[in-house]
Amino acid sequence: MGDEMTVYLNGQFLPIAEAKISVLDRGFIFGDGVYEVIPVYSRRAFRLDEHLRRLDHSLSGIRLANPHSDAAWTQLLNELIARNTPEDQYLYLHITRGVAKRDHAFPNPPVAPTVFAMSSPLTTPPAALLASGISAITAPDNRWLRSDIKAISLLPNVLLRQMAIDAGCAETIMIRDDAFMTEGAASNIFVVKNGTLLAPPKDNLMLPGITYDVVLELAAANNIPHEVRKVMKNEIFGADELLLTSSTKEVLAITTLDGKPVGTGKPGAMFAKLYGLYQNFKREVMRA
Ligand code: PDD
Repeated sequence: MGDEMTVYLNGQFLPIAEAKISVLDRGFIFGDGVYEVIPVYSRRAFRLDEHLRRLDHSLSGIRLANPHSDAAWTQLLNELIARNTPEDQYLYLHITRGVAKRDHAFPNPPVAPTVFAMSSPLTTPPAALLASGISAITAPDNRWLRSDIKAISLLPNVLLRQMAIDAGCAETIMIRDDAFMTEGAASNIFVVKNGTLLAPPKDNLMLPGITYDVVLELAAANNIPHEVRKVMKNEIFGADELLLTSSTKEVLAITTLDGKPVGTGKPGAMFAKLYGLYQNFKREVMRA
């Protein structure tokens, strides 16, 4: 499939193999850029407005002007969806500060940003994984203090995720200052204790997940007890359930942590409830 993919690069739609950028691109040289991942169900972008709001937040966080209006983004992304074959896709958007002579300071005068978008087939977790849950490890959160920016410089996240893979696990839950949980290497994490869903606050130390927001909205709309507050390290280890959310993984149970079972060691009642609500919510979007 790979080579037939149509991507968007700086104003043009073209086969992925023909999409080329300069080695002087500041994304390549400095990791100077931001990105977004947007799921597409039945050819409809999920929560597009919310993803575009977050993109705006990331761009202003790195002091880069948004290259497109919301209307232009919407048109561009819908065209990208139409030019690719899968019904369910995920869109990857990537904007860098452009091509310039290597110098840490911003190019002066500014140069045009590099704007790239591609679509890949969306494969949500299979039934077996939903039934078993996944294994995770914990590790210190050694990232910078602007983890709310969806930055393309993902080296800590890459190393943290690989740490999980090397341990035969799927995700790493990060602990800040040896005290409280922030998020996963590429996901948000919820704790369940005595029937209450606990979520860390959307501050500068975690990515404000779009799936995270949907889960909290669903909890509120369905009278599921929930609290948004700092979640301490001991609360993860004493959890009845742990849940992971992301645009590509949706909602998953974490059933093993650092080699020990979480609660009963099986996906629990809160997972079943929220997973069901999430799938219903998705179906409403597809029908829209
Ligand atoms: N990652 N936290 C981090 C560090 C992430 O990278 C992601 C998503 C999330 C979940 O956010 P959302 O629900 O909006 O997908 C939280 C994407 C999927 C990725 O990098 O591929």
